[in-house]
Order: sequence, then structure tokens, then C-alpha cells
Amino acid sequence: MEQPSAPRAVLFDAYGTLFDVYSVGLTAEQLFPGAGDKLAKLWRDKQIDYTRLVSMSGRYQPFWDLTKAALQASAESLGLPLSTEAQAQLMNQYRHLSAFPENRAVLQALKTAGVPTGILSNGDPDMLSIAVRSAGFTDLLAHVLSVHEIKRFKTDPMAYQIGVNALNLPARDILFVSSNGWDAIGATWFGFTTM
Ligand code: LAC
Repeated sequence: MEQPSAPRAVLFDAYGTLFDVYSVGLTAEQLFPGAGDKLAKLWRDKQIDYTRLVSMSGRYQPFWDLTKAALQASAESLGLPLSTEAQAQLMNQYRHLSAFPENRAVLQALKTAGVPTGILSNGDPDMLSIAVRSAGFTDLLAHVLSVHEIKRFKTDPMAYQIGVNALNLPARDILFVSSNGWDAIGATWFGFTTM
């Protein structure tokens, strides 16, 4: 059987793939003992739900704003008293999410092999630049791409087209990596090679 050709570039989803979105669960559990995991999961689900809602309705809002709105709605839905301080603490934690431990070695190996890498994310540019900097990935990523420039979220094909334009490669030559099933299938339908 013919082996697939090696990718000429690799693009990563950010939140949930390079950065552990559930690390905010620890902060949430400290603030709301016994409800931390529930809040973190509902928060993530609402956040992504909101991106679909605004994209389909042509009512784009930056990912940061939707993330804050999703936190507020999740806390209310769970009956958790979200104070201004607690909201600020959780949002600040979101800004500085932990990176998964294996990421640095993977990004370094790709750089050493001369394979261009990047992020293609729903996050807005300042969210991403802070996350990349606090993870120490600035020198390992050739591109940090945000859907903010087109005001439409993934899985809109225009969002994935940003990666093709930045790398100047056919979609099939780009490996797209995402831990989010909805993102992986959207990228596959667009034409990226996915795993
Ligand atoms: C990202 C999240 C939404 O695009 O998966 O980084």
C-alpha cells in the first residue's frame, strides 16, 4: 500500500490541543469545591457553542468575549456565585493556560526537521500571543494564525483557508492536528490531512 507522503507543514489547534483548557478546572475547583470539573466542561461546551451561533448568524464577536460570556452563563446555569474577582481569576487563568508537557519536544523536533509549524485557532491574536509567550513557544512556531482576521470561526472553510494562504501550500500537504473532534472533521472536509 502506498505510504502517505510526509506533511510539508503542520498546523495545530490551540485550545485543547497545544494548551490544556481543563487546567482552569483546578482554579474552578478551588473557587467552587465539588463543581470545578462541571464548570470547566460546561464552560468549554458553551464557548464553542457560542462560536457556532455567532458564525452562522454573521454576528462575530472575539473569542475572548465569547469565553467570558460562556463562563458567566455556565456559572449561572450551575447556580455558582461568580464574583467579579472569581471571574477575573478564571479568565486570567484562561489567558495563561498550561501547555501539554509533550508539546515542546514535538515542536522542537519539527523545527529541527525543517517542517514549518503554526497555530490555527479561534482565539483572538492577543489571547494567542500571550498563551504562546507564556508557554515559551514563540521561537518554535512559524505562524500564529487567528480566525479574527476573517471574523468567522472554525469549522467555516474560510477559517481553514487562512492556513493554506499563510503556508502557501495545498491543503493536502498540510497536517492539521486537533484534539477536538468537531475541528478535526471540519479540517478534513476542508482538505487538510488530519490525524
Ligand atoms: C481553538 C479552539 C477553539 O480554535 O479549539 O484553538
